[in-house]
Amino acid sequence: MKKSIDLEPKQTELLAKIGQAAINLDWNIAFSGKSYGNHHLERVNKITSYLLSEVPADVFLTLAAAWVHDTTLAVELDDDPDSIFSFTLSFLEQFQDLAEAQRREIARCVSSHETGDNASLEAQIVHDADVIDKSGMLGVIRHIWKMTNMIHSRVLDSAEDVAELHAHLQSRAVKVKTPLAMELIQKLNLALPDFFEHPQCQEIVFFISERANQGKISDEIADELIQKYEFSFISSLKSQIECSYLV
Ligand SMILES: [Fe+2]
Repeated sequence: MKKSIDLEPKQTELLAKIGQAAINLDWNIAFSGKSYGNHHLERVNKITSYLLSEVPADVFLTLAAAWVHDTTLAVELDDDPDSIFSFTLSFLEQFQDLAEAQRREIARCVSSHETGDNASLEAQIVHDADVIDKSGMLGVIRHIWKMTNMIHSRVLDSAEDVAELHAHLQSRAVKVKTPLAMELIQKLNLALPDFFEHPQCQEIVFFISERANQGKISDEIADELIQKYEFSFISSLKSQIECSYLV
C-alpha cells in the first residue's frame, strides 16, 4: 500500500519557490538557453513523489533535491561531487526560509545523486527518478539529443550510431537502486525491443537527430514523433511525457 505524501503548507510553498528558481536556471541559463521549455525537472519531481510513496525517506528534502539536482548544468559542472555540493549550496542561499542544515543536506543529496553509490536513501531516490526520465522512448530521444549536440556534434545516421545508443540505454537500465524504480524502468523499457528491431529504427534515429541538431528540445521532438508515427513504441511516449504510467 502506497503512503500519501504529507507536507506542511509552508514546505509546499517553499518547494514551489525552489522549483520555479530551478526551472528558470534550467530553461534560461543551462546549455545557453537551448533547453528552454523542457519538462525534465517537473517529471523528475513527479517520479520522485511516486518513489517516496514506498520508502521512509525525508519527503521535503528529497523533493527539494529533485528540483535542484541539475542546477550545476548552468555552470557546466556535471560530475565532481565537491563542486556540485558547493554550487548547489550557494544556489540554495537565496531561500532564507531554509535552515543552514537543510541547505547542506539538500546539497549533499544532490552531490551524491549522480552515481547513487554509497548515497543516502534520499539521494538514491533522486538518482533513480533522474534515470527513469532518461529511460524508455523518452530516454532514446534524450540520448540522441546528447549524442548529436554534445558527444559527436553531428547528425546520427549510421547503424553504428544506433548500436551505441542501444548499448547506452541497456547500461542505464541496471543502474537504479530502489525496487520500485526497477519496476518502472522495466515497464518503460518494454518499448525498446520493438523500436530497436523495427525496420525503420535507423530512419527514426535520423529524424530525431536532425531535429536535435536544429535546436529542438526533446519534448518538442517527442510531440512530432507522436504526430508522425502510429507505432505502439512511439505511442508509449505520450504516457511518459504525461507521467501517466505512474499508477
Ligand atoms: Fe536530470
